[in-house]
Amino acid sequence: MKQSRTWWKEGIVYQIYPRSFQDTTGNGVGDIKGIIKRLDYIKNLGIDIIWLCPVYKSPNDDNGYDISDYRDIMEEFGTMADFEELLEQMHLRDLKLVMDLVVNHTSDEHHWFQESRKSRNNPYRDYYHWWPAEKGTPPERFSYFDIDGNAWKYDEPTDSYYLHYFSVKQPDLKWENPKVRQEIYDMMHFWFKKGVDGFRMDVIPFISKDTDYPELPEKYDGNFIPFYADGPKLHEYLHEMNREVLSKYDIMTVGETPGVARDQALLFVDEEREELNMFFHFELMSLDRDGDEVFWMRKDSWKLTEFKKIHSDWDKIFADKGWGSMFLGNHDFPRAVSRWGNDSPEHWYNSATMLHTFLLTMKGTPYFYYGDEIGMTNIRFDSIEDYQDINTLNRYELLKDKGVDLDDFIANEKEASRDNARTPMQWDSSKNAGFSEARPWLKVNKNHKKGLNVAEQEKKKDSVLNYFKRMVQIRKNHLGLVYGNYELLLEDNEQIYAYTRSMDNDKYLVLLSFSEDMATFQLKNSITSNLNLLISNDTNQAFKNSGDFELNPYQACVYKIS
Ligand code: GLC
Repeated sequence: MKQSRTWWKEGIVYQIYPRSFQDTTGNGVGDIKGIIKRLDYIKNLGIDIIWLCPVYKSPNDDNGYDISDYRDIMEEFGTMADFEELLEQMHLRDLKLVMDLVVNHTSDEHHWFQESRKSRNNPYRDYYHWWPAEKGTPPERFSYFDIDGNAWKYDEPTDSYYLHYFSVKQPDLKWENPKVRQEIYDMMHFWFKKGVDGFRMDVIPFISKDTDYPELPEKYDGNFIPFYADGPKLHEYLHEMNREVLSKYDIMTVGETPGVARDQALLFVDEEREELNMFFHFELMSLDRDGDEVFWMRKDSWKLTEFKKIHSDWDKIFADKGWGSMFLGNHDFPRAVSRWGNDSPEHWYNSATMLHTFLLTMKGTPYFYYGDEIGMTNIRFDSIEDYQDINTLNRYELLKDKGVDLDDFIANEKEASRDNARTPMQWDSSKNAGFSEARPWLKVNKNHKKGLNVAEQEKKKDSVLNYFKRMVQIRKNHLGLVYGNYELLLEDNEQIYAYTRSMDNDKYLVLLSFSEDMATFQLKNSITSNLNLLISNDTNQAFKNSGDFELNPYQACVYKIS
């Protein structure tokens, strides 16, 4: 085994979007008490680590990714006492808690920004990026959620513009100022001293910027990340953060790293560099997108050979150093089964369980997003009225102004929108799916009435949920599935993803069909001579004889090779 053993490599992560998980107060919004109520359920899934999306005080322009007080809890979600109770209850169950660290920007309602905008010589002025209007219009910068796509916002009191790569209510912090870094490090100590077990770091490569704000170069093609994120001091800051904070605790870190290319990967996670433990690369998340347009679906379909290549190439990067993270979705992307599988009634069960098999048999820490364990699907809202996400709403306005066909946009959002992944958790078949007594902040998917809910799946032996639990136990009982070498088979096959995992004398064969048709193929006798089936999501006997296999649509099989 090349990598050292660590809890966050062997653990299985469950991501909670607190707004949508469980409401206990009857206001249609999930809360911390709701999470506490469901801890036994989560523990029972076999989960080890919970990543909790932001619960800090926030005016909710971007559902908590706009923080107005890093040391307080959002009122809708509860109190600090609730949070402490959550942490205590989690630790009693041997569950770790990873918080979201959103430090590229704050809310414009954060005290620092309120001060910063007051005058040009305010002590907090240099906490944010300002451009004095007398220098003219600032060099072009793109903003994700701005209604005009412009990252500079003119602010009247000081006759200056401030920078916001996300919404106008999310001004970017100026990490170049050592005081800002110290404030952030102090805040991180505050949470670690409470006992939290790690951070997922929001858009972390964006923190370092060229503060001369140069004009965009000629070769700028709409993909701004290489030009004005991932700045010159990024690794200096991450190393400093590690030295000042991270290294002092037994915790885990995972960066969200849009735009980070393969050849930069080890700069973040090579243990010797003392920066982060893991990160989420964006290559898979971009596979079904239109070039650099991360929120537009591509016109043709993605190919399984492309999917396999991404995973195989990234596996090589972490072969000896660093560690990967395996995920198929999160709160920013559509539901995994709708996107990478097939959520039509005939294929939904097999494809949801096949995707579970994939994440739980690959090398790298697996991350599941709440509701994936029961196979939750995209809601595909038809009307703009139903959408709640600032990303969809503001782009709708922007495109309306540009005269773009809005039907096309809605068709796109039905597949791509972040709200697809944010609908309330489906606990049972009752009115609001057991999520809330009141009208939920975002509509519940009607398929909770058709078996897509926890209560019914718990009772049914062959449910997506029960398959998930069995597959989790298989990973836990076979260390080779965590640390073993990965080897791709059938590289060019467009229906089947097949690979082996091996560690010392333990060897496994994983066969996954990504096809809605029956697939036949052959594997070498040296691999198939002694196969013991550990699990399959289909009764079809895949192994025929002398290396011949036949897989039903979306069938998955894991064998131990003896
Ligand atoms: C990250 C978050 C996303 C948020 C954005 C701005 O990409 O995952 O939800 O909107 O950063 O904080």
